Amino acid sequence: MAVPYKWNGPLKRNGAIDSFKQNKLTPGLGSEFIDLDLAAALESPNSDAIFRDLAVTISERGVCVFRNQRLDNSTHKEAVNRIAIASGRPPTNDIMTNALYPLYGDDPKVITLIPERVAERYGYKSDPAKRQSVAHEWHSDMSFEENPCDYSSLRLGEVPETGGDTLFASAYELYDRLSEPFQKLFESLDVEWGDPHYTQACGAEGTYKGPRGSPANVGFGFDAVHPAVRTNPVTGWKAVFAGGMHCKGFVGVTEEENKILMDVVSDLITKNHDLQARVHWNQPGDISIWDNRAVKHVPTRDIKGKRKGFRVLSAGEKPFLAAENSVGRADFRREHDLDFHNVSNGYETAKGELKLQSGGANGHVNGNGITNGHSNGVAAH
Ligand SMILES: [Fe+2]
Repeated sequence: MAVPYKWNGPLKRNGAIDSFKQNKLTPGLGSEFIDLDLAAALESPNSDAIFRDLAVTISERGVCVFRNQRLDNSTHKEAVNRIAIASGRPPTNDIMTNALYPLYGDDPKVITLIPERVAERYGYKSDPAKRQSVAHEWHSDMSFEENPCDYSSLRLGEVPETGGDTLFASAYELYDRLSEPFQKLFESLDVEWGDPHYTQACGAEGTYKGPRGSPANVGFGFDAVHPAVRTNPVTGWKAVFAGGMHCKGFVGVTEEENKILMDVVSDLITKNHDLQARVHWNQPGDISIWDNRAVKHVPTRDIKGKRKGFRVLSAGEKPFLAAENSVGRADFRREHDLDFHNVSNGYETAKGELKLQSGGANGHVNGNGITNGHSNGVAAH
């Protein structure tokens, strides 16, 4: 079941979080906030503006880490939900429910992640000396759902003595580093997703059988077809969605061609550490919130000590490509005379008018031929 979705163009920040200190993890990816209290933001009379600016900032920067927070499971869910709503998430959608939640804690919408349990479940090898590549583990959360995650979050309850960092790679940058002919090729293709292990686990142990954050996310098939390049509706920037874990392959190409295309994405990620950012977890209470439309991510398994995390995911829109109404981030920079190292200042420092103005690009047809068709409830863009 397709969820109707109408994109009203990219969003703009309103300056509501400008007073908080923001450290950039790299010029093009990731920000760290050390004095922004998300629990206080939930109670603020200005909370609508704050969460809207948080949504835009996370979508532009790909991932934001908020240090030393005092969230519990309830306020964690609320904060992520507020960000997703402020971003224009389809009103039918919600925080995701995990089909196997009793295996990951008591709350259907908060997954408790303990590495030993995950390793046991998925058979990860524990001997790093023998391991030669984990490149295939880069992924975008729940990409095999009809409505995969827009925003994901991980809050650490226990922080290991060392190790267990989370890595991110910019999907905007993946698109920008393709040549123009390859950009066009990728834009012309769809990609098939699946997770047979999850399907098998749910078949054997399936517990929660209702919709998972969206009326479109039902059944235990866990397979979907999405465009290889998608438009991030919050920024209006194109990003490579194809590739990585759960990506079964490009639709309509040969096996040999598929391998080439999959390798293109994997090589761009693994051969370009300057499109990656690494989040180190300093203390319990640290939380990272990222936009799966803007980044891929991967855990590291070099954990010394105990690590316990709580994961909350939001179900976003059906991925779409507005090929004519969105641009690569690099083109956006060029058109608005933005310094590469100043990209995170985004719209505020752009010179001249935005190409993607609010209210434009309505009623387009996405890469899968689905016409979007409702108001997303965002008053201004
Ligand atoms: Fe993940």
